[in-house]
Amino acid sequence: MTRIINICGARPNFMKIAPLMRAYRKHPNLAPLLVHTGQHYDRNMSELFFKQLDIPEPDLNLEVGSGSHAVQTAEIMKRFEPVVLEHKPQWVVVVGDVNSTIACGLVAKKLGVKLAHVEAGLRSFDRSMPEELNRLLTDAISDLLFVSEPSGLQNLKHEGIPDEKVHFAGNVMIDTLRANLEHAQHSKILNELGLQAGGYNVVTLHRPSNVDDATVFGGITNALDAIQQDLPTIFPMHPRTVHNLPKLGLADRFAAMKQLRVVEPLGYLDFLKLTANAAVVVTDSGGIQEETTILGVWCLTVRENTERPVTVTNGTNTLVGTDPDRIISTYRRRRAETLDHPPVPDKWDGRAAERIAEVLAQH
Ligand code: UD1
Repeated sequence: MTRIINICGARPNFMKIAPLMRAYRKHPNLAPLLVHTGQHYDRNMSELFFKQLDIPEPDLNLEVGSGSHAVQTAEIMKRFEPVVLEHKPQWVVVVGDVNSTIACGLVAKKLGVKLAHVEAGLRSFDRSMPEELNRLLTDAISDLLFVSEPSGLQNLKHEGIPDEKVHFAGNVMIDTLRANLEHAQHSKILNELGLQAGGYNVVTLHRPSNVDDATVFGGITNALDAIQQDLPTIFPMHPRTVHNLPKLGLADRFAAMKQLRVVEPLGYLDFLKLTANAAVVVTDSGGIQEETTILGVWCLTVRENTERPVTVTNGTNTLVGTDPDRIISTYRRRRAETLDHPPVPDKWDGRAAERIAEVLAQH
């Protein structure tokens, strides 16, 4: 039996771990364990995803909670080391680019356990992003690297990672989207929020570079104000952003926007229904750039770069940065354009996790 410890910690990890846990079931020689680091712990940020995506209860929850990057990363490492020592896995599998990814990856390698990274090779080339450091470091120490889009193959080659470690598996987040799209149609979220399909925008913002600084967030707020004057706009707000609104003196501005509605973070199915039927999505998330591409919905990414370039070249994504004029003018352009359904990136076919499980079973 090959024992595999699988790590999830933060919201975007849950959609990636769900199809993997399912794919392992077809391989009787694989014995998977699931460890939740507890990086995200609010019901809407964690538990709801386990329920809706049918992820098995974690075998262990390290309950690390929030903290500075150093504290959070160190705490995960301290609590994960005894787990590896006790269970003696042959593999640790980490997904994505959050602090839990690098923390558990480092622990595994220092104990001589092999490491697989799912969603390897993505690069924004912006080392001021915490996620970029997590990606670079995790890939540098991984034994198997599962890549989600062609840019990942190029990036890993440039970094000198040997070809035999790298597999172009496809996108596990899209496995989850495809598996749940029909089910999500039953969500009542549009009725609950009084929205018509195609008649509203969706906003999500949580990156420290966008929501921790009064000038930057103030500028983005100006753009959101113009956008909500055009169409009703729903903003499911990440806890970091909620905390920052009053601190940055923006709470009154948000309250004054008549057509912009802030709601709690939504579960997977409601959010999928909401994005699938939106006119335009404005976001700084990584995963939403990919999901809107498959859904054929315009995406404006409030960043100057993306580690997911295939969503721009083959998808519906446009980088708009944080300048309000640029956000507003791109929004207007997109609103006036009908979207011919874009080509689907290679291997975003719903079977990435199956390919990954197959490779792990052969090792
Ligand atoms: C993390 C990931 C980011 C990912 C995002 C998705 C890292 C470096 N960042 O950022 O890549 O896009 O998750 O959500 O790992 N908080 C709560 N409840 C929770 C979790 C967090 O209230 O369940 C609050 C806390 O005040 C915390 C803050 O949100 O300090 C930030 O949480 P943290 O996990 O540090 O990073 P995220 O911004 O969520």
